[in-house]
Amino acid sequence: MPHWIPPVPVSSASQPYSFACESTKTRWPKILTGIVDELSKLNHQLSSSDKEEDKDKVKEGKELIEKMSGLIYEIKTDKPLKPLEDTGYPHDHAVYNEELARQEGKTWFTASWLFAECYLYRLLRSFFSLSTHFTSFDPFSSQKLSTWRSSSTSVVQLSSTLNELVEKGRVEDKGELRRDWRIMMETMLWGNATDLSLLTSLTHEQIQELQSVERGREYTLRDDLEKAWEHVKDSKDERFDIVLDNSGFELFTDLVLADFLITLTPFARKVVIHPKLIPWFVSDVLPHDFEILFSTLSDPLFFPSLSSSDQQELETLVTRWKGYVESGQFELSVPRSLQMGEGSGNKSVELAEFWTSPYPFSDLPLVAPELLEEFKKSKLVIFKGDLNYRKLVSDAWWEPSGSFEDALGPLGGKINLLSLRTLKADTVVGLSPGKAEELDEKEGKGTWRVNGKYAVVSFAGRENE
Ligand code: F6P
Ligand code: MG
Repeated sequence: MPHWIPPVPVSSASQPYSFACESTKTRWPKILTGIVDELSKLNHQLSSSDKEEDKDKVKEGKELIEKMSGLIYEIKTDKPLKPLEDTGYPHDHAVYNEELARQEGKTWFTASWLFAECYLYRLLRSFFSLSTHFTSFDPFSSQKLSTWRSSSTSVVQLSSTLNELVEKGRVEDKGELRRDWRIMMETMLWGNATDLSLLTSLTHEQIQELQSVERGREYTLRDDLEKAWEHVKDSKDERFDIVLDNSGFELFTDLVLADFLITLTPFARKVVIHPKLIPWFVSDVLPHDFEILFSTLSDPLFFPSLSSSDQQELETLVTRWKGYVESGQFELSVPRSLQMGEGSGNKSVELAEFWTSPYPFSDLPLVAPELLEEFKKSKLVIFKGDLNYRKLVSDAWWEPSGSFEDALGPLGGKINLLSLRTLKADTVVGLSPGKAEELDEKEGKGTWRVNGKYAVVSFAGRENE
């Protein structure tokens, strides 16, 4: 494991000047310090309580803070990665440990970046699942919520636009439908600019600027939306899948697309969305985040300073969406009420474990054959965001003008897939010849690969359809 080895080197923090190196050195300690702050705040709130349970919780909070500080030290001093303990569900520690054994002696900097980063979030989960009072604690939840709250302007704008379209009814004219499809897809693409792991270097205002679709097409370095359109344009009552990335605004734009497909096109009978099971890369969607999105959209007090007509737009939208959840047209791939650490013996939860494993998606056919069968039933599987892209192409240093299909390895040709990604890591493939060199020249070597300003939209079809 990984079972398919790409023919070019994979990203590693041992490569000087790589984003992997910068991330490991600077970004991860900042993210972990954020968790320490979160736990300290909680402890402070409980410190004056006389209840035994609260005292216990404070004590445990302090132990967790110590573990976090220890981890920061281990990363900064580049210690070897240690095997994970069996900490209950998910039982994937063996998968991680198998890879650790294969990479024997590898450290935070010398292991592959993709493995080390997945291991980091899995290790964090083990700290909390071993505790008594923090078993379902999401250390990133307050960050997720406050960023979501700051997206109100775009949320209201999108809600009214969509409601207006819905009011007009199904779009019969193919040209119009094609234009709307593109706009919805672009909205969903740029929604990926809201990744909280980047908040260590960007302000909320900069993130909002990144979310705007208008800055648009000139920043899209590969645009396969037309190919994807050709693939879906004659379909009827199909299943679509979205492998989710971040919660809050990005999840909102994903559901806007799902709504568009179901309400305004003949293409979809249902959209299945796939969350993560444990806190992941800071802002990724957990089942709980899906519920939070719905409850905050219907809470008149959640978003600051909305007019009553703005609130009405949100209400109209969320009422429609709740109806789709009830009817199964919006389907979460795991039970909606799933709590962290639950799910043993549930098939859909077992399948979802794959998303927080360290496997690149080239291994999906081999290690998750049942998931592959599910995706074969889908007209289009949309993979959101940077990490999903890194996993699709094995996080390797491909020749930028190389073939995206080849970079998919054994997954290539097995399913219909569309990846929507803003660039936040070094790997990239499938650009036109000379594009990378031109950008290196114009923007500074490699900077365009990681600053979230550019995007790639990559389609690969299933063979023998
Ligand atoms: O670039 C920072 C980073 O955390 C990468 O490690 C990771 O691939 C990515 O951002 C996560 O972004 P996204 O939420 O788009 O997957
Ligand atoms: Mg993410």
